[in-house]
Amino acid sequence: MSVVLITGSHGLVGSESCFFFLKKGYEVIGIDNNIRKRFFGNDGNTNWIKKRLNKIKNYKHYNFDIRDEPKLKKLFHKYNKNISIIIHAAAQPSHDYAKDNIYLDFEINTKGSLNIFDNAHKFCPRAKIIHLSTNKVYGDNPNKFSFVESKTRIEPVNKKIKKNGFDENLNVDNSVHSFFGISKIYSDMLAQEYGKIYGLKIGIFRAGCLTGPNHSGASLHGFLSYLIKSCMVNRQYNIIGFKGKQVRDNLHSFDLINAFWEFIKKPKKGEVYNIGGGKYSNCSILEALNYIKTKTKNKIEITFNNSNRIGDHIWYISDLTKFKKDYPKWTISYKTKSIINEIIDKYK
Ligand SMILES: NC(=O)c1ccc[n+]([C@@H]2O[C@H](COP(=O)([O-])OP(=O)(O)OC[C@H]3O[C@@H](n4cnc5c(N)ncnc54)[C@H](O)[C@@H]3O)[C@@H](O)[C@H]2O)c1
Repeated sequence: MSVVLITGSHGLVGSESCFFFLKKGYEVIGIDNNIRKRFFGNDGNTNWIKKRLNKIKNYKHYNFDIRDEPKLKKLFHKYNKNISIIIHAAAQPSHDYAKDNIYLDFEINTKGSLNIFDNAHKFCPRAKIIHLSTNKVYGDNPNKFSFVESKTRIEPVNKKIKKNGFDENLNVDNSVHSFFGISKIYSDMLAQEYGKIYGLKIGIFRAGCLTGPNHSGASLHGFLSYLIKSCMVNRQYNIIGFKGKQVRDNLHSFDLINAFWEFIKKPKKGEVYNIGGGKYSNCSILEALNYIKTKTKNKIEITFNNSNRIGDHIWYISDLTKFKKDYPKWTISYKTKSIINEIIDKYK
């Protein structure tokens, strides 16, 4: 028996991972307690994904919190060395939510992650592990470059960065990370230590914007999904900072899981990768909005909040060179427009 353990199995990354490995014939066990609904209200409720997954024979769900060490230990003890792959995608994922919930964010993203890595080390040290990190570990260091503003977007002046994006050599020190960035940097570094010290085969993926129809987009997390949802249900959308010209790279969760799969086939011990849509798939909020309006012909009421969020990136595109060098077979199949089209179809 070969089991895949997926934390945050009802969220965007977790659920896409579940469907991917179930399709490949693995037995999948998921952990998720729908705490996302507590974070973000009804928009964040993931019960609709739960219903879909529960219909699949080889999926088994565990409804508890990854901070609950005794329960987690019992589960690892039960499946033990049969666990061959772990996707750790459970987290408090929002910059803004963390600001007012520092303890909760810290406990989930640090202690929750420690619980996963340490039990993996004790019970299934040969498992291949994926840890979801974020570009927020770099804090606002990307903002320290010079930028120019055009009609719909802001772009860096530095030609190399404009062409390729930010690579893994970006400094993580002396910047404003947000409390979320801090809890994530702990788990990111912790995962590296488990790789380097104990030899766990663990990949750390520092992601840009991850998206797709499986996201339960909410105002505080999942910008593209929430923007489209707002447009489809005629709800006002509030653009915070940078006149909507801030640029994000967007990776469909399907393409992300394919990157995980390449890593799993040829794993490394505690390696860090920037991952995202890169130069292939990115947009500013205004560009996304204009495309959604043209595509749906729906009106959307937009408000602008001129004060930028503290530590928010002005322009962030992931440089994918390192990952593509190590895993040349990985390709991106969705660009931002095709991702938007798919999410629009979900709300029709
Ligand atoms: N979506 C993005 O744009 C993005 C970008 C960069 C990094 N990431 C990282 O990727 C990972 C997955 O993100 P996502 O967008 O799929 O998030 P998500 O919120 O859609 O999914 C996370 C899931 O984990 C569950 N969860 C959270 N805390 C839990 C706990 N303590 N116990 C059990 N379940 C818990 C939630 O209920 C939710 O269903 C996170 O680590 C996030 O920081 C996401």
